[in-house]
Amino acid sequence: AKKFDFMVVSNRLPVDRCSSDDAENDDDGWRRSPGGLVTALAPLMMKADGAWVGWHGAPDEELEPFSHDGIDIIPVALSTNDVELYYEGFSNATLWPLYHDVVAPPEFHRAWWDSYRRVNRRFADAVIEHAAPDATIWVQDYQLQLVPNMLRQSRPDLRIGFFNHIPFPAPEIFAQLPWRRAIIEGLLGADLIGFQRPSDAANFMRSARRFVGASIKQQQIQVKGPEGEVSHVARAQAFPISIAVDQISELAHRPDIIERARQIRQDLGNPKTILLGVDRLDYTKGIGHRLKAFEELLKEGRLTVEDATLIQVASPSRERVQQYRLLREEIEGTVGHINGSYDTIQNTAVRYLHHNYPIEEMVALYLAADVMLVTALRDGMNLVAKEYVAARTNDTGALVLSEFTGAADQLKQALLINPHDIDGLKGTIMRAVHLPANESRRRMRSMRKEILEHDVDHWSAGFLAALAEGELGDDS
Ligand code: G6P
Repeated sequence: AKKFDFMVVSNRLPVDRCSSDDAENDDDGWRRSPGGLVTALAPLMMKADGAWVGWHGAPDEELEPFSHDGIDIIPVALSTNDVELYYEGFSNATLWPLYHDVVAPPEFHRAWWDSYRRVNRRFADAVIEHAAPDATIWVQDYQLQLVPNMLRQSRPDLRIGFFNHIPFPAPEIFAQLPWRRAIIEGLLGADLIGFQRPSDAANFMRSARRFVGASIKQQQIQVKGPEGEVSHVARAQAFPISIAVDQISELAHRPDIIERARQIRQDLGNPKTILLGVDRLDYTKGIGHRLKAFEELLKEGRLTVEDATLIQVASPSRERVQQYRLLREEIEGTVGHINGSYDTIQNTAVRYLHHNYPIEEMVALYLAADVMLVTALRDGMNLVAKEYVAARTNDTGALVLSEFTGAADQLKQALLINPHDIDGLKGTIMRAVHLPANESRRRMRSMRKEILEHDVDHWSAGFLAALAEGELGDDS
């Protein structure tokens, strides 16, 4: 087999298998995968000389390594059973809600955990088979937390990085996990463990101290061997993720996309204000809170359907997981209720779109929207907030942003809100709707400066440089 000096490992590959009747089929049976992880890593991998190891989204399909968009891909197959227990179960019904501050109750099942361990082993084996001596391996996200130590045990020559794209909870919450020790040990196999926010890194270090007795100096975590000797030092640190700012601003300048934005406004009857929400349909995103605030504003007559329309793009996600099904019913019920009460023959209150759109259409929506609503209850980063800012190259528009997102650490000039405080949210939405042009310009400028200086290349280069630095440190 071909060997690689650099490999990225994630559950989800940049492309997903899709059926021939799928609208997003790009003709050869693949479509771009959803989510922030792929958005952030695809630019790196299109330039880097390396391989991407991951799952291609279809159960029970074994594929040989192949290349797509110039990226070498090493597929890892999951059976229907793996998908149910490891992916839908342990990853998305245990870890996902637990790590997002239990906004939905996590479920703990031993059969899910067994499957998680088995599948993590399979990802590790795929890396081991294809990694050149002394290769650098970058493992991604909560689905693969056992992989770093599995790699270290069989291939101590490898340089191992890990990045967690979602929050890491406080030890008081993490403590609920029956397998907390094994997870911490799995992560500590890495040389460098990256998190979105300093508070996530701090939470992890507190858990490492509490659950495996690691001793920590600054950001160095000393891992002890059987005799109590220090066998390995891991570092934990924040590296806030970002977007390809240049790509988004280029699209925002394209005449066909500007025309498309105008068309969208016109199709909606040129309302004074277009509000926009863009999320995977996930209970962490606070879509219900946003709808509630909007409905109350309509009810009180502070907004009317003649003046304001809310476009809510909710891309399909994890549709076989119970909590996601319930959420979909709830959100669609609420949207139907609001539209039934406030729509006129001519105007609609909420344009709800349960679809995935290509980036060109997303940028047209960002350009068409006067107010962007990001009301997540908990979010590792939230790249949609950054995309909106990147697209507003003429410094207009307003971003309403939840303080419970990683993005709030960087986009300090957003209108920050606590989504649980419905009255506060309503007040801030009204403030955004009426934001004076000069204030909007000042805020947008400062936010765009921030993300221009910290784009996704800055993120990946920063992480990989810190990972390589440790190497020099070990030698000296
Ligand atoms: C988030 C996670 C990613 C995940 C994405 C889409 O961004 O951090 O790991 O790939 O959501 O979710 P999915 O379950 O479809 O891969």
